[in-house]
Amino acid sequence: MANIKAGTKGKFYITTPIYYPNSDLHLGHAYTNLVTDFYTRWNKLKGKKTFFLTGTDEHGQKVQQAAENINMLPVDFVKMQSEKFKIFFKRLNITNDDFIRTSEQRHEKIASAILKKVWDKGDIYRGEYEGHYCVPCESYWTETQLDEGMCPECKRPTRMLKEPSYFFQMGRYQDKLIKHIEANPDFIMPKTRRNEILSRLKEPLRDLSISRASFDWGIKFPVDETHVIYVWFDALINYVSALGYPDGRLFKEFWPADVHVIGKDILWFHTVIWPCMLMAAGIELPKQVFAHGFIKADSGEKMSKSKGNVVDPVKIIDKYGVEPLRYLLLRNVVAGEDGNFSEKELVERYNNELANDLGNLVMRISKLVQRFCDGKLENSGFKQDLDWKKVFEEADELVSKFEHHRAIDKIWSFINRINAYMNEKEPWKSKDEKQRDAVLYNVLESLRAVTILVQPVLPETSEKICRQLGIKPGAFKDLGFGKTKYSVGEASALFPKIEIEEKGKTFPLDLRVAKIEKVEDHPEAEKLYVVHVNLGKERRQLVAGLKEFYKPGDIIDKNAVVVCNLKKAKLRGVESQGMLLAAEEKSKKDGKLVVGLLLAEKSKPGDAVAPDGMEVEARPNFDIKDFAKLKLVIGEKNRAMFEDSVLRTQKEEIVAEKVGKGAAIH
Ligand code: MSP
Repeated sequence: MANIKAGTKGKFYITTPIYYPNSDLHLGHAYTNLVTDFYTRWNKLKGKKTFFLTGTDEHGQKVQQAAENINMLPVDFVKMQSEKFKIFFKRLNITNDDFIRTSEQRHEKIASAILKKVWDKGDIYRGEYEGHYCVPCESYWTETQLDEGMCPECKRPTRMLKEPSYFFQMGRYQDKLIKHIEANPDFIMPKTRRNEILSRLKEPLRDLSISRASFDWGIKFPVDETHVIYVWFDALINYVSALGYPDGRLFKEFWPADVHVIGKDILWFHTVIWPCMLMAAGIELPKQVFAHGFIKADSGEKMSKSKGNVVDPVKIIDKYGVEPLRYLLLRNVVAGEDGNFSEKELVERYNNELANDLGNLVMRISKLVQRFCDGKLENSGFKQDLDWKKVFEEADELVSKFEHHRAIDKIWSFINRINAYMNEKEPWKSKDEKQRDAVLYNVLESLRAVTILVQPVLPETSEKICRQLGIKPGAFKDLGFGKTKYSVGEASALFPKIEIEEKGKTFPLDLRVAKIEKVEDHPEAEKLYVVHVNLGKERRQLVAGLKEFYKPGDIIDKNAVVVCNLKKAKLRGVESQGMLLAAEEKSKKDGKLVVGLLLAEKSKPGDAVAPDGMEVEARPNFDIKDFAKLKLVIGEKNRAMFEDSVLRTQKEEIVAEKVGKGAAIH
C-alpha cells in the first residue's frame, strides 16, 4: 500500500461548553462530550498533541437558587455536582485532560484580570439596565424578542428587571468580527450556522450588560465590588483560564483553540460575544466553532423534565454498556443536525452492525486462524488484496469537515467489504495452504486497520479486538500493510446479541370520560361549538364540530369520551384542549351524514377508557394526523372498537348513539 500521510505534527486544543451544575446531566449533554471526545481521539491518532477541556459553569442566580432549594450553600452544592459530572464523564469514557470549575481561584483570578483589561481599554461603562429577564436562561430579552410574552429560549415567564449595570460596548468590534467571519469561511461550522450569524450581524450590536447587582453568587466585578460579573462573561473565559492565560505554558502551547464544540443554542455567545471579548482583550480568536444539533426524545420532541421524556444516559449505559451508546449517538445523529434517540434503534444497530458486521467478523477470523494456523500468522510474502488507504483518507476529510457520522459510515462499509472478501474467498475450503493463509492474513491486517479507525467511536472494543488478535493498539501512522505478527486467542463474542422482547402492542391515546358542563357557540365559526367538560380532576375546553347534529341541551350533562393527549390546537382562534370522540356514517335513508357521540353513562368523569386487555402507553402531544391512522370504528351492538378490542372503562363498554356498525370514529 502506498504511504499514508497520517503522522501530522502539531497541537489540537478542543473544548466543550462548561455545564451548568444546577441539574443533572442528560443524554444531550453526554452527546456534546462524546462528539468532543471523538474529535480528540481522532486527532491524537493523527499524531497531534491534543488538549481536551471540559468543566462546570458554576456561578449565577440559577445555580444559587438550585442550591438554596435543597438548603445547601452554593459552594458545597457546586462541588457535589461537579464531582458527579466527573464520574459521569468517566463512565462515558471521555478523555478530557482538564476539568475547569469557574468557582476555582485559578479561573476567578483570570476572569477578573481580563475584565479589568477590557475596562482599562475603555470598552465598559456604567449604566442602567431594564429588560425582561429570564432566570433559568440568565438572559435579558427585549420586548420584540419575547415569544408571546415568554422567554424565547425556554418559553417560561420572564420578569421585568431594572438594575444598575456595567455594559460592554461590543458594537465597537462588530465590523472587525464580520470581516473575520467573511475571511474565514470555516470559522463557524456547519455553514448554515455561519449564515445565520452573518445575517444577525446585519443589525447593530447592542451593548451587553455584563454585571449583576441583584445577587452575589459570582466573581466580584473588579471596579465595583457591589456587582458580580455576568455569568456568560465569566464562563466563556474558562477556555483561556484553564490554560493559565497569559503566561502559562499551556496557554502558550495550545491557544488559540482549534475548535470549541457547542450546541446550537449557544452559538451567539461563542461566535459573537466571545470573539468580541477576545478582540477587546487583545487575545487571538479560536480557529473554529462547531455547533451540533439537539438530541430529542424518540417522539421528536425536545427532552424536558416537564414532559417526562428525558433519557438518563446512565440507565442506558447500565443496560447496554457505553460503547453501543457512543456508537449510536455518533453514527446515527447527522452531525450539526437534530436527531432523535430511540432505544429500539440502539438495539437494532447493536444487533446488525456491532454484533453481526463487526463482532462476527472478529469471531470468524479468530476461529479460522486458530483452526488452520494454531493462532499464529505473519506475513510470508503475501500481497495486499484489500486497500484501506482511501477509506482513511475519505474518513479523515469528512472528520475535518465535522461530518463524523459519514466518516463512520465509510469505516463500516469497509468492515462489510472485509466480510464480503472472506465470503468470496472461502479460505476454509482452500486446498492451497499459502493461498489460504494469504486470505487470512489480509483479513487480519484489514481488521487491524479497523481497530485503529474505530478507536474514536469504540475505544474499548478496539482494545478488545487488539487483545484478541495479540497485537498492540496502533495509530494512523501504523496503517501500512504487512509488518504485523498475529497471535490470535480463543474467540469470544464481542457483542452478545440482544434478544428483542416482543412487547404486546400498546394503545397510544389517553382517553377519559368527560361530563359536558357547558356548550357555547364558537365566536367565529358557524359549525363549531366550544364545549366545556369536567374530567374529574380538571376542566378543559374543547372545540367540536357538532352544531349541525346536536342542540346544546341534547348533550349537556352527558358523559362523553375525550382524547386528552392530543397536541393543543387553535381552531379559528379558540384553543381546543382535546377532542370529543364521535362516530359518523351516512344515513341509509337519505344519504345525509349522521353523527353520534361515544358515551359512558355509568362511569365517573375522569375514568380511563382503553381497549380491553391492551396496555396504554399514551404519547404526549399526539398528532392529529397520527390519530387519523388509528383503526377506531363502531362494531356490533354500537360498541366502540380499536382494532379487535372493545373500548371500555372499568365499569362498562363504550357505545355510540345514533350510529351503527361500521361508523368511523373520529
Ligand atoms: N453553561 C452554558 C455553557 C457555557 S460555555 C462557556 C450552558 N450549559 S448547559 O449545561 O446548559 O449546556 C451545555 C451543553 O449541552 C450545550 O452545548 C447545550 O447545547 C448542550 N445540550 C443541552 N441539551 C441538549 C440536547 N438535548 N441535545 C444536545 N445538546 C444539548 O449552556
